[in-house]
Amino acid sequence: MSVSNPETSRQRVITTKRVLEMKESGEKIAMLTAYDYLVARYLDAVGVDIILVGDSLGNVVQGHETTLPVTVEDMIYHAKAVKRAVRNALIVVDMPFMSYQTSIDDAVKNCGRVMKEVGVGAVKLEGGAYIADIVRHLVKIGIPVMGHLGLLPQAINKFGTYEVRATDPTEADQLLKDAAILADAGVFAIVLEKIPSELARTVTESVRVPTIGIGAGPSCDGQVLVVYDMLGLTEEFKPRFVRRYAELAQVMRDAFRKYIEDVKVGTFPGEKESY
Ligand code: KIV
Repeated sequence: MSVSNPETSRQRVITTKRVLEMKESGEKIAMLTAYDYLVARYLDAVGVDIILVGDSLGNVVQGHETTLPVTVEDMIYHAKAVKRAVRNALIVVDMPFMSYQTSIDDAVKNCGRVMKEVGVGAVKLEGGAYIADIVRHLVKIGIPVMGHLGLLPQAINKFGTYEVRATDPTEADQLLKDAAILADAGVFAIVLEKIPSELARTVTESVRVPTIGIGAGPSCDGQVLVVYDMLGLTEEFKPRFVRRYAELAQVMRDAFRKYIEDVKVGTFPGEKESY
């Protein structure tokens, strides 16, 4: 297994081909979400491999209960901001609900817009065998696709819950088949969301393409988290798969309170902050 040092490999531009090579060489893939210029700039500077402009922006940026209301226009707006910041990371854009499921033509039109108008490296689509023809066609015409299996937030109305998926043998078996079908259709990686670790290990060992886990245990070829979750900004959201690397909600509250107090008592701005 090799681990490259982000401090010395700043010039390393990540492509979908490179992501496939990382699986072959055993180098773990680090992916995080970003929705704006500043966060994307920090992520890129410290060497994250993949930046996902996730449709989770529907929840954490727009305040919706689900990702369903997110539009292609929303994704393009946020992806453009991210794109302006990124030099090295591979940018992947989530395609929102009903922008690709409806037909191959719609998928080509909407994914094509994202690739052409934003200039990112790939798109991500949720779903298994039932979207294989769409994936195959997109890949054939030059649009790299990342797959997404397990918990599918866009299918919340079908399942009614965000609980762990594929805990029963029938669903686990279907997921294994879906992974093989997606790999065969040409995806360059597959996100595995909230499934048992053992199943994620089996999928990871059985497909040629890298798996990227979120709540899928340590055996995946890479990991992804929603950036606001790992920064501790979504305080009330506490699933066991999130590791908090900072407690920014508290830092922000303290800063805002101090600012309000300083303004109210008249100590801000001071001499040094005035012209
Ligand atoms: O939208 C998103 O952020 C995602 C990740 C959770 C994988 O799909």
